[in-house]
Amino acid sequence: MKKFAKSRFNFLSLALLALSASANAQQYDLLDLSAQPLNNEVCATCHGGAGVGNASVGGPSLAGLEPWYLRKQLENFRAGIRGTQKEYIPGNEMQASVARLSDEEISELVDHISNWEAVAPKPRIEGDASKGQALYAACAACHGASGDGNEALGAPGLAGRNDWYMFRQLKLFQSGFRGKHPEDTAGQLMRPAAQALENDEAINDVLAYINTL
Ligand code: HEC
Ligand code: HEC
Repeated sequence: MKKFAKSRFNFLSLALLALSASANAQQYDLLDLSAQPLNNEVCATCHGGAGVGNASVGGPSLAGLEPWYLRKQLENFRAGIRGTQKEYIPGNEMQASVARLSDEEISELVDHISNWEAVAPKPRIEGDASKGQALYAACAACHGASGDGNEALGAPGLAGRNDWYMFRQLKLFQSGFRGKHPEDTAGQLMRPAAQALENDEAINDVLAYINTL
């Protein structure tokens, strides 16, 4: 956790930051998304304008996500397959933000967000990319040798994603906050791979390598 804590993106500070954002979040509950389905201001609060991401509230970049993956995650959050654990506030807030979207609204959001141009994020993780390259061999089977994903397996592209966000996802898969729900077949496929990463150093190393892809 040391390197991660140093970059201030540990769970506690995220939780605190998210708490300070939750005063705003209460407004989202009252916002009727159906009245303004393509108004993505609600999303932009946490994901940045045009989906570039907002590290301070833990919202990852959305620009560049595959449409099929985007849809799947919105459906997962809506159904409570992801983000329902009260202990993990950022996931909770995301879950609450999309809980009332209709299928149609999800389709519109997916069409809309898929048009945003991916922005290469600034690396924040420090790790040993050459050690990470060896570790990545186990990931390549599903996420592709160049990290561009595999739709048939439900594995999204990893190249160009926020490393701080991926760190957190790997920890969530390890702890079972993600990927344990009985209906989350894709997450269940991913979970053992996260668990095979022995410690935070290994996570940082593999992410340092992914940052080179
Ligand atoms: C209150 C803040 C907040 C709002 C509002 C919000 N999100 Fe999120 N979103 C998050 C956070 C935090 C995460 C990461 C959750 C995690 O760590 O598991 C996330 C994750 C996601 C993911 C998953 C990304 C991935 O790579 O798996 C998608 C897709 C997403 N949000 C889309 C949206 C859309 C579309 C909207 C607007 C309708 C929206 N979000 C509104 C905070 C928010
Ligand atoms: C057996 C196939 C498989 C292997 C091996 C695998 N993954 Fe995954 N991974 C997936 C799938 C499927 C998902 C999507 C899960 C979902 O839909 O929630 C995923 C999701 C992820 C995510 C979350 C992405 C996001 O936007 O939230 C990260 C990060 C990730 N994998 C990293 C890795 C790393 C690093 C490795 C190697 C150590 C690895 N994966 C190995 C199948 C795999």
